[in-house]
Amino acid sequence: MRVADEIIQGLTARPRTLPPKLFYDELGSTLFGAITKLPWYTPTRCEEEVLRVRAADLGAAIGPGAVIVEPGAGLCEKFAWILPALEQPRAFVPMDIDGDTLRIAAGRLQRAFPSLAVDPRVVDFTRDLPWPDVDAGVRQVVFYPGSTLGNLDHAAAEAFLRKLASHLRPGDKLVLGVDLVKPEPVLVEAYDDPIGVTAAFNRNILVAIRQHVETDLDPRHFDHRAVWNPEVARIEMHLVARTAHRAHVEGHAIDFAEGESIHTESSHKYDRDRLEALAAVTGFEPEVLWTDHKGWFAVTVWRRT
Ligand code: SAH
Ligand code: AVI
Repeated sequence: MRVADEIIQGLTARPRTLPPKLFYDELGSTLFGAITKLPWYTPTRCEEEVLRVRAADLGAAIGPGAVIVEPGAGLCEKFAWILPALEQPRAFVPMDIDGDTLRIAAGRLQRAFPSLAVDPRVVDFTRDLPWPDVDAGVRQVVFYPGSTLGNLDHAAAEAFLRKLASHLRPGDKLVLGVDLVKPEPVLVEAYDDPIGVTAAFNRNILVAIRQHVETDLDPRHFDHRAVWNPEVARIEMHLVARTAHRAHVEGHAIDFAEGESIHTESSHKYDRDRLEALAAVTGFEPEVLWTDHKGWFAVTVWRRT
């Protein structure tokens, strides 16, 4: 399906939705980068703690001479953090939907580490996963940090992990970083920060979609809302119509009632049991799970069975 059709389908359905991959135009990626610097956005600083404290163990788990693939690499910062702990990685293959951000980040990484082969791929990984050719006997490692998995619902997350497993060989590894369930006020503040960066990130999706469709959807007509849904253990982000109004997308009229929302993102939070169950049904065996000192974020290493 064309991206334009995904947008029309999502906005004309009830409840109305937009896929979160559309956040990441150039401004969206920049705003996400700003979110990761917010004191209220716990995932990045908690994951950073784990990656720094466990760097040597992680290097040992990955082993020498690996080809490392990162789906949704963005600014490639986390790979740069772990790189000093890796023993002669053969290549780094960052993938991202935002081509401008990826190319700049990959270029910067290549200049900083000239002996590393950096092979960026601009792709929507929910549709296509252009895998590198890796010689038999060379270990492949998927580095999937940032809780990007959490933006997929459970069925899609399982399907994506199975797809990763299909590219890996027995003994290859997946290094997965996921945000964990924690007290609701901490979760909500991470997605509804007091200085409005996350609100801007959310509203910008209405601007970012203009790359794909003709629309008069106006971010000024929507409020940002983040809610914790305990039944499915996820934060949901919405754009809520301030007043009843009509907007258009590619000629389709869309009538918003006051208070009606567009669901723009779900951010699923995991726990140990759910992670173990997920590994078992997707072709992996968990090797280790590390958390930060608060137990808010997990980095886990799974082995392809
Ligand atoms: N891995 C990085 C970035 C995480 S942010 C980190 O941990 O800091 C999520 C990243 O995934 C963004 O850079 C976004 O552009 C990318 N992304 C989101 N959906 C995607 C999709 N469907 N295909 C490819 N990249 C996607
Ligand atoms: C990229 N992804 C894991 C982020 C998250 O936490 O779900 C995106 C984000 N949305 C709002 N803040 C950050």
